[in-house]
Amino acid sequence: MADQWHDPNYVRVFDTTLRDGEQSPGATLTSAEKLEVARALTRLGVDIMEAGFPAASPDDFEAVKRIAEEVGHIPGPHGRPPVICGLARATPHDIDASWNAIKGAAHPRIHTFLATSEIHMKYKLKMDPEQVVERVIEMVSYARSLCGDIEFSPEDAGRSDPEFLYVVLAEAIKAGATTLNIPDTVGYTTPDEFGALIAGIGRHTPGIADCVISVHCHNDLGLATANTLAGVRSGARQVEVTINGIGERAGNTSLEEVVMALHTRRPMFGLATGIDTTQIMRVSKMVSNYTGIVVQPNKAIVGANAFAHEAGIHQDGMLKHQETYEIMQPEMVGVTTRLVLGKHSGRHAFRKRLAELGYGGLAEEDLNKAFERFKRLADKKKVITDADLAALIADEIFKPQEFYALDGLQVACGTMGLPTATVRLRKPDKSIEVVAAVGTGPVDAVYKAIDLIVAQPVTLLEFGVNAVTEGIDALGEVTVRIHYEGNDAGVVNPQSETSVPRTFGGHGADTDIIVSSARAYLSALNKMIAAYGFEGGDDHTPEEMTEEAVN
Ligand code: KIV
Ligand code: ZN
Repeated sequence: MADQWHDPNYVRVFDTTLRDGEQSPGATLTSAEKLEVARALTRLGVDIMEAGFPAASPDDFEAVKRIAEEVGHIPGPHGRPPVICGLARATPHDIDASWNAIKGAAHPRIHTFLATSEIHMKYKLKMDPEQVVERVIEMVSYARSLCGDIEFSPEDAGRSDPEFLYVVLAEAIKAGATTLNIPDTVGYTTPDEFGALIAGIGRHTPGIADCVISVHCHNDLGLATANTLAGVRSGARQVEVTINGIGERAGNTSLEEVVMALHTRRPMFGLATGIDTTQIMRVSKMVSNYTGIVVQPNKAIVGANAFAHEAGIHQDGMLKHQETYEIMQPEMVGVTTRLVLGKHSGRHAFRKRLAELGYGGLAEEDLNKAFERFKRLADKKKVITDADLAALIADEIFKPQEFYALDGLQVACGTMGLPTATVRLRKPDKSIEVVAAVGTGPVDAVYKAIDLIVAQPVTLLEFGVNAVTEGIDALGEVTVRIHYEGNDAGVVNPQSETSVPRTFGGHGADTDIIVSSARAYLSALNKMIAAYGFEGGDDHTPEEMTEEAVN
């Protein structure tokens, strides 16, 4: 590992988008998407990547293993491949699964956890404090016998007795833990309290000086970023974060907020990260597109309005001096509205710009498909920006396996008559079916027509439209989330140990938002079909798939 890693003023960024982020309702990602997100996180420069919970299912295990073996050897902007981490409950079965999934990485890490708050010990674990200490010693020792880099988390530390925490953490250190992560699992603490908790741990835990203290906050009271920064001010040197702050309930601490706070207020914090901030926007969009979780427009750093200065007074101030209303330049986080390519740009320029955006590894066939789509877009839209290209690539290349593909679409809507859609789809057996339907609006009519052909019981949970760039010819991006209404036992949540219903996100981009809407819905349906395997030659029912996953 490079020297920076051990610098006392270096804050390690531990990204858990693919684990805690994926635990958020509806964030189910395909293996291909997970791999792509992992690559993007590496380009971003995260130091540690929690790639998943390998004991959850064979699919989760395989996804973590592929990330470890492929992405776990690619150097980030700081010159090191990321540490690849797998989560494990404090059981030999989970620890074995985690180790077997991550051991192919250049730098593997096992992350195990056990709750330490009274309420969790009594009602969830049904263990007394002595038994908890015993289990921590046994399981951390076991994990350490397999792997040299062990992280231990006392779950619900935010509501645990600090004196008990000092004891548990000291035992975990003696048993071989190298990073001690302090989670505010339910987002209960305030910055003063959380900062004091971290300072107390730093002062009173025997052996802590040789370990890294990490902070992991949830956003139930909207305090995750503030608590994380308070933790860092009190000595934590690892922050556990997710892209766009996605995660259980109100989410986790968002990577972009913490990194940009440390960066923008560097004179005050005196701390550095290894993040290439210019990659932030790209990864944010990728995660939003793949999960179907829309970023709220006023979200700090990555929201559509974060750098828009629309009010007249602001514009006037901006013209006089940029810093009157701008503490960060949009370019610092990769926001660019620059014209990059146009109608006359050739394949060479297209390939070159994609490589600069981090899509250098596209197969020739994918590049051709993307180029064709780009040419069609350039006919409609004169100014093609980096944001347009990223949306196009997300839509054309990283789409799920296409069981059903849009072959044609026609809508009639307005104030006279019923909104009607005619949809033509290519089906898994390559035949074409055309269906018409009416709805409450054009999108509803399109979705009803698609439902008639695909014939699966699904509910639309969320629908969001976003303009990729400004202007009347902007590319409209649609993200949707759907839920399968048939029998599905869901996915295991490692913390609550309950099954959580699976939902699927889809993304579509086009200058015509009705076309984007159809593409987004189809991409979510295709993902669902791929996950359950009830099309395309696999004869598993959703119930069987889930049973296999749980056992
Ligand atoms: O929030 C939490 O407590 C967690 C642990 C597994 C670290 O995510
Ligand atoms: Zn968490």
